[in-house]
Amino acid sequence: MKSFTIAAAATALFASSVSAAVDPIVIKGSKFFYKTNGTQFFMKGVAYQQGVGTNTTQTENIDYTDPLADEAGCKRDIANLVKLNTNTIRVYAIDPTKNHDACMNALAAAGIYVVSDLSQPGESIIRDDPAWTSDLYARYTSVIDVMAKYDNTLGFFAGNEVSNQPNNTHASAFVKAAVRDMKKYIKQKNYRAIGVGYATNDDPDIREKMANFFDCGDREEGIDFWGYNIYSWCGDSSFKESGYDVRTKEFESYNVPVFFAEYGCNTIRPRKFTDVGTLYGKEMTSVWSGGIVYMYFEEKNGFGLVSVADDKAEPNADFTAYSSQIAKVTPSGVNMDNYNPTNTAGANCPSVGSGWAAQATPLPPTPNQQLCDCMYESLSCAVGSDVKPTDYKDLFGTVCGYKGEPCAGIGKNATTGKFGAYSMCSPKQQLGFAFNRYASQQSNFNEACNFKGAAVAQKAKASDSQSSQCKALLNEAGAEGTKTVTSQPTGTGTGNGGAASGSKSPGAAGALTVPTFETGYLQFGLYAFTAVLSGAAMVLL
Ligand SMILES: *[C@@H]1O[C@H](CO)[C@@H](O)[C@H](O)[C@H]1NC(C)=O
Ligand SMILES: *[C@@H]1O[C@H](CO)[C@@H](O)[C@H](O)[C@H]1NC(C)=O
Ligand SMILES: *[C@@H]1O[C@H](CO)[C@@H](O)[C@H](O)[C@H]1NC(C)=O
Ligand SMILES: *[C@@H]1O[C@H](CO)[C@@H](O)[C@H](O)[C@H]1NC(C)=O
Repeated sequence: MKSFTIAAAATALFASSVSAAVDPIVIKGSKFFYKTNGTQFFMKGVAYQQGVGTNTTQTENIDYTDPLADEAGCKRDIANLVKLNTNTIRVYAIDPTKNHDACMNALAAAGIYVVSDLSQPGESIIRDDPAWTSDLYARYTSVIDVMAKYDNTLGFFAGNEVSNQPNNTHASAFVKAAVRDMKKYIKQKNYRAIGVGYATNDDPDIREKMANFFDCGDREEGIDFWGYNIYSWCGDSSFKESGYDVRTKEFESYNVPVFFAEYGCNTIRPRKFTDVGTLYGKEMTSVWSGGIVYMYFEEKNGFGLVSVADDKAEPNADFTAYSSQIAKVTPSGVNMDNYNPTNTAGANCPSVGSGWAAQATPLPPTPNQQLCDCMYESLSCAVGSDVKPTDYKDLFGTVCGYKGEPCAGIGKNATTGKFGAYSMCSPKQQLGFAFNRYASQQSNFNEACNFKGAAVAQKAKASDSQSSQCKALLNEAGAEGTKTVTSQPTGTGTGNGGAASGSKSPGAAGALTVPTFETGYLQFGLYAFTAVLSGAAMVLL
């Protein structure tokens, strides 16, 4: 019996491919702790990814190297990270189809945790035309699926610097919907409790409203931690001059952990990192959980701690400076058992009005691929097989302009809080819905189901032949698609029609965004193809 148990345990260990023992980080109140001994955890972090970062155009569909799948690179760099007392790295885009065991285990062995963004270039929430779609849901959950098994996964960012000025704050509602759904997904899959947060930019006009919006309302919808990308301490600045003092005050009673998700102004180089002592000193450690220096690799933007050439990583002057600063700090916190958070309440939701455009309730609906598929097979008028995605813009423009609000079920407006039940479906499904809705309201269905041949009659799956689950979902959405669907299909990680999670190689994915229709106000035309219509657009069909 005994040997059986050991063998089974060993098998389980290998099967889960988790090796190096590392104590998971847990959240209590506004602080991070090592789970087992309850010592407070202060992030001493370095951003670790080439070619992708805070300034990458959101829609750009670039090839990138997944730093956690590059075993040789990791092994080359971990020694340097250890010299910098690093206990956390931030990665911006990983490829879920690759194997991350070697890097993750080597990092764990060095006591290094990972915070990973969930998006990738070409697949993220776009600030000027935001949507939270079944495609993105599939991408985000696929990253969670591969990272959740590692004990040194510290958390996920559901977005990075999405809203950056008042006129695109509505985009934050879609990001917050992503936070909500990824938190729900982690629970549903019974993964270890891993936090989901957001990395914000430091925009004076919106920074406080941003922090409040993501932390307000229902706890199940709010962020688990707040990352702050901040570049206001340049050269020999000070707590006061840098504004770190005011930022600290702003987060004094924030109820979840807050840390610098990027820092290290480089307007004066070599950098001196004189802010490190302050960040990990008395003035800030009661509020902040440390920070992540931007960044490891020297690139055109001039933020590198090291320069990599011929597979050799050469420390720069910035490395030396940061190294001596971080070596000096000894942040002391509280022990988890002795810590009784008093600031337990979330923030107040900012009201919609001047300078803020996102309702906190309701947030955009959870992508539900099953609902979309059920809807599409129930249509009597659908999209013709030779209609190209590039034709969609005009077709949406036409059908949504007709009377009877045929597009109400696919509309989305975070400012009014009105979302059609099908607003997260694929463009083809949405177009079919609108065609069908329009045709159904005309006296001659067959004549109306035409759109110069783009719409074709199809044999709808009669409601009595659809599964009872389909029927129930469609019923919830209502014929106009304007009702709220609350039931979710269980256990599905892939939310996308055809774009199975992780099946895309990075760079192959085109972000196809669907129209932002304000039905009832007839505001159209924001339809945009935001990236190359290769791979993904095809799969979306
Ligand atoms: C708690 O555990 C962490 C990681 O294993 C370690 O770095 C830290 O020193 C420990 N704390 C104490 C008080 O031993
Ligand atoms: C991002 O771009 C802005 C404007 O070009 C520049 O000032 C800033 O240094 C860049 N930040 C990073 C982290 O690359
Ligand atoms: C916001 O304003 C900028 C110009 O400052 C513009 O480029 C952008 O398209 C606007 N975004 C939206 C969503 O209107
Ligand atoms: C949402 O609706 C409001 C009110 O009709 C409108 O002013 C605003 O432009 C709409 N927003 C978007 C992103 O369509």
